[in-house]
Amino acid sequence: MKFDSQFMGAAIMGEQLVADKVAEAPAHVPPELVREFSYWSSPGMAPGPNADPHAAFRKFRDGPRVVYALSPETTQYLGSPGMWIFTRAADMRDALQQPNLFSSQRETFAPMIGESWRMVPVENDPPLHTEFRMMLNPLFSPKRMEAMKDGIRSRAVSLIESFKARGECEFMDEFARPFPVTIFLQFVGISDERREEFQQWGRDLLHGQDLETRAGGVRAIVDYMRELIADRRVNPKDDFITFILNGRVEGRPLTEDEMVGCAFLVFVAGLDTVAATLSFLFLHLARNPEHQAELRANPSLIPSAVEELIRVYGILPMTRIATRDVDFAGVKMKKGDLINCPPQLANIDPAELDRPDEIDFTRTGIHHMGFAYGPHRCIGSHLARLELTIAFEEWLTRLSPFRVKDGTAPIVHAGTVWGAEEMRLAWG
Ligand code: HEM
Repeated sequence: MKFDSQFMGAAIMGEQLVADKVAEAPAHVPPELVREFSYWSSPGMAPGPNADPHAAFRKFRDGPRVVYALSPETTQYLGSPGMWIFTRAADMRDALQQPNLFSSQRETFAPMIGESWRMVPVENDPPLHTEFRMMLNPLFSPKRMEAMKDGIRSRAVSLIESFKARGECEFMDEFARPFPVTIFLQFVGISDERREEFQQWGRDLLHGQDLETRAGGVRAIVDYMRELIADRRVNPKDDFITFILNGRVEGRPLTEDEMVGCAFLVFVAGLDTVAATLSFLFLHLARNPEHQAELRANPSLIPSAVEELIRVYGILPMTRIATRDVDFAGVKMKKGDLINCPPQLANIDPAELDRPDEIDFTRTGIHHMGFAYGPHRCIGSHLARLELTIAFEEWLTRLSPFRVKDGTAPIVHAGTVWGAEEMRLAWG
C-alpha cells in the first residue's frame, strides 16, 4: 500500500498509527481503518501483573464498525499480516451465521505433528459440520450434563479441601486447571488415574513455552486417542470413544482422523476455556467483596451471576476466513482475509442492552456471545455453566470471603484465549 501522509502520527483511539504500519496493510484496506494492535502483545493485552485486557480493549467499541489490526503475531500464528476486527454485535452475528462467506475450515494442531486432520466439528463448515453436530448433540444434552453433577461437585470439594486450611492458594494451578481436566476424563470415560498425565499434556499443548513442547502435547494426546480408538474397536464400552466409533455422517462411519479430531477438540475446548473463565470470574469476586456478599446472602443468584460475568468477561474471539471478495460491514474484503469477532465487544455493545458496563446479577434474559453465535455455538455450554456454578457454590459455602493475596498481583493476558496465568487468592 502507498503511504498516505495524512495518517502519519494520527492518534486514533489511543493507538499511534505509524506510517510504515499502514504500508504493511494489504492494498484494499482503507488506511484510516488500520491499527497497530495485537491481542498478544499490545499494552494491556500482553501478560502482566494486574493487566486488564477487557478494559484496554473496550476503546474499540467507540470507534469504527470494523478495524484492520496489524500485528506480528497474526502473521506468525494465522499467516496473515492482519485481520479485520468487528466491533459491533450485529455485524458479528451477520458474519457468524454465514459460514459459506466466512469459513471455519482450517487445520490448527495437526500440522504441528506432521499430520493432516481438522478438529471436529469446529474446523469444518456446513453441510459436514451440521452432520457432526447432529451426531454429537445427544452427548451434550442438558440431561446428560445433569448426570455429571455429582462427580463435578465432588471434584470441586476435594480440590478446595486440599488447600482450605492453608488460607491461600495459587488459584490457576490448584483449582482452575485441574478442575476441568477431571471433568473431561469423566465425560470421555477415561480412568482418573491418568489425570496427572492429561494435565501435563494439556499444559504442554496450551501453555508450552516453545513449539516443541506444544507439539509434544499434541503428539501425546493424539497417540493416546488413537490407542483408545483401537482398543474400543475390539472392546466396545458405554463411553465417548465407542459413541464416535458408532457415529455416522453422510451415511458413513467417521474416518479415524475425524475421530481423532473430535476427541482432540473435546479435550482442548473444555480445558482452557473453563480455566480462563474461572480466572476472570473469581478475580472479579475477589476484587468485589460486595458481589461476593450478595451471592453468599442469596445463592439462588449464582446461575445468573455466572451468566452475567460470562457476558462481561468473554475469553475467546472467533476467527473466520473470507471465502470470496465481499463488501461487508461497510468495507471491501478480499478472499482469504481473516475476520475476527470478539464477544468481549459484542457483549458490551450499547445497541444490544441497557447499562452494558454495569455488572448486575439480577439482570434477566441475558443474551450474549460468550459461547459464540451461529452454527458453531459452543456445544459444551451446559457443561461449562454447570462447572462454573458448582465452583461458585462450593467456594462460597466452604471458604470465608476471599481476596487477592496481599502483596501479589494476578498475571492476566489476552491472546487466543484470554485468562490469568497466575493468581494468588487468600481468605480468613
Ligand atoms: C466457559 C467455558 C467455555 C467457553 C467460554 C466456550 C466458548 C466457545 C466458543 C466461543 C466457541 C466457538 C468457537 C468458534 O466458533 O470459533 C466454542 C465452541 C465449542 N466448544 Fe466451547 N466454550 C466453553 C466450554 C466448553 C466445554 C466445557 C466444552 C466441552 C467439553 C466445549 C466444547 C466446545 C466444542 C466441541 C465447540 C465446537 C462447536 C462447533 O464447532 O460446532 N466448550 N466454545
